[in-house]
Amino acid sequence: MKILITGAAGFIGSHIVDELLTDNNYKLVVVDNLSTGNNNIPTNTTFYHADITNHQEVENIFKKELPDFVIHQAGQVDVTTSILNPLHDASINILGTISLLTNSQKYSVNKFIYASSCAVYGETKNTNILEDTKASPLSFYGISKYTPEQYIALYNKIYGLPYTILRYANVYGPRQTIKAEGGVVAIFIDHLLNGKSPQIFGDGMQTRDFVYVKDVAKANHLALFKGGNQVINIGSNNQISINTLYSMICDLTSSSNSPIYKPKRDGDIRYSQLDNTKAKQMLGWNPEYTLEEGLKETIKYYKSR
Ligand SMILES: NC(=O)c1ccc[n+]([C@@H]2O[C@H](COP(=O)([O-])OP(=O)(O)OC[C@H]3O[C@@H](n4cnc5c(N)ncnc54)[C@H](O)[C@@H]3O)[C@@H](O)[C@H]2O)c1
Repeated sequence: MKILITGAAGFIGSHIVDELLTDNNYKLVVVDNLSTGNNNIPTNTTFYHADITNHQEVENIFKKELPDFVIHQAGQVDVTTSILNPLHDASINILGTISLLTNSQKYSVNKFIYASSCAVYGETKNTNILEDTKASPLSFYGISKYTPEQYIALYNKIYGLPYTILRYANVYGPRQTIKAEGGVVAIFIDHLLNGKSPQIFGDGMQTRDFVYVKDVAKANHLALFKGGNQVINIGSNNQISINTLYSMICDLTSSSNSPIYKPKRDGDIRYSQLDNTKAKQMLGWNPEYTLEEGLKETIKYYKSR
């Protein structure tokens, strides 16, 4: 069985590759333009250095490889970049996804699995967010993650292309770049291990739902055969404030540096916690790592670099 993974040299994509390589039945074809992330070029895969917005290049790969499944992780992942340059953001996240969908339909892919985001919800009344909560993005990134969801649903309706959309909470773990603004855990750990004071935007009372990257990789694996034509939250069902996260990482790294508070950024959500009941029921997925366990593994990784 052949699986094409986009963004496989990135943070989450590289963990999905590791997860799938535990099964000898899969042949992995990976596509990445090495533009962001830590360039974790996977071994034991067929690697294409290619851009998903180059339709001809994408079609050539599909034609040659004829993948059975597509797991789509490649994207512009930075909220601030999306606000400063919405055209760039949309061209990768929206047009790039349409290119993959067109080829998935044309070359009879069995299933399209898409990495969406809690950013599609925006500010919600309920702090525990269910999948049927109305999407109301606060950033262009939220729009550019949500629009492909609608294309995916229509590709299914018009052409019968099966899919699973996974809406990730805040993913953290080894290999996350400290440049991406979503990588608050990576940035805190990196700064504290190097004796620096990290910045906190706003009062630090905003909450996030942190999910460990290996659990997210597992969810993608399960989605190959389960959760057909569904939108499914992938989160921990918990939320903690950025201030509490900071204290936890200080304790675990034996640091006492105070953070530097900066004004709140545009596009930042106040509260975020994804209800994961549907993931449990439809994928048989459960987050296996507590935040403390995940943080310990992540700190170990950054210490070893
Ligand atoms: N990290 C999170 O907390 C989080 C949360 C929700 C959703 N997501 C989604 O998960 C996916 C993976 O995110 P990540 O955190 O691993 O980011 P990442 O930046 O580490 O990985 C993205 C990968 O995509 C590649 N890429 C970017 N543009 C490309 C293009 N035009 N053509 C080919 N490859 C391209 C990059 O080189 C990189 O390797 C993204 O779609 C993101 O929107 C991430």
